Amino acid sequence: MAKIYKIAVIKGDGIGPEIVDEAIKVLDALASVSDFDFKYRELLMGGIAYDITGDPLPEETIEGCKEADAVLFGAIGGEKWDSLPRDKRPESGLLRLRQALDLYANYRPVKVYDELVDASTLKRKVVEGVDMLVMRELTGGIYFGQPRERGEEKAFNTMVYTRREVERIAHEGFKAAMKRNKRVCSVDKANVLEVSQFWRNIVEEVAQAYPEVQLTHMYVDNAAMQLVRNPRQFDVILTGNIFGDILSDEASMISGSIGLLPSASVGGKVALYEPIHGSAPDIAGQGIANPIATIASAAMMLRFSFGEEDAANRIEEAIEQILRDGCRTKDIADYGAKEVCSTTELGSYIAEYVSKNA
Ligand code: IPM
Ligand code: MG
Repeated sequence: MAKIYKIAVIKGDGIGPEIVDEAIKVLDALASVSDFDFKYRELLMGGIAYDITGDPLPEETIEGCKEADAVLFGAIGGEKWDSLPRDKRPESGLLRLRQALDLYANYRPVKVYDELVDASTLKRKVVEGVDMLVMRELTGGIYFGQPRERGEEKAFNTMVYTRREVERIAHEGFKAAMKRNKRVCSVDKANVLEVSQFWRNIVEEVAQAYPEVQLTHMYVDNAAMQLVRNPRQFDVILTGNIFGDILSDEASMISGSIGLLPSASVGGKVALYEPIHGSAPDIAGQGIANPIATIASAAMMLRFSFGEEDAANRIEEAIEQILRDGCRTKDIADYGAKEVCSTTELGSYIAEYVSKNA
């Protein structure tokens, strides 16, 4: 009997369904030449979930995710839902799901594909060879801190971190560094914020357990500058929720297109995999979205959740191969395209490679 991996599939809004369909196409192609298979269960989250059920994260979705071996997620949100109260907005569905699944560690690797160096808005000599990981804390900090309030005359959020929260994300960052180039740069605002000084002290403590890893600290404003000045200096950037949100978007542009970068959110029993880009409602339904980030997220799922390292590598090699062949979606068509592909064509090319090179 083949192993069967149960995947909860959340397509979401905007381009979400189009790009997730391509990732599933690639996974199925892989299964056709492997000793494992996938069973998918589609669940609702985001604007579409609100439209159908009145809740951006229906209980059934939380339960369905908990019963799965992993979650594959596309994207959520769109102007249509922007005026809803905060707890009905698509984003609140995603935030609640991260909490419900205890996904406190968010891996956002940034790698520059050789073929696409010129797609970056930064100079070739700056971005060539960049290979870093943003390790973002995902279930704490100002996103979730209490108290929070919105009044007529005043509104506030609170940036809170507990010892346990900082310790566990720091361990995650150091462990990741051990498998990479053994350098961690912890990013904070310790010159101004209590919570950051606390963060820094605890990261120092955790570092004791990883004597091989070189730890440095950087203020977040400086980190934002250093990322575009000399991104190659970074191996693992370890940081809190909101700084990681901002820096990972910035770092994504080093690679030329936000449509290329995958992410994994881990911590609890079931991990979640999603492209780092959003739902791009302006191009939804046109067949031009770049599915690479989502397909690369599926590769991360195979590696992290299922331990299928070879299969993950095969997807990543297929992505590199089709880029070498000159297949490009519109977003990166100006950079070495021999053929401008639609979303589905690109997915099919990758799927073909994956099953051919078994
Ligand atoms: C991200 C997104 C989310 C975040 C939004 C959609 C809530 O920007 O995953 O980076 O801020 O975490
Ligand atoms: Mg973001």
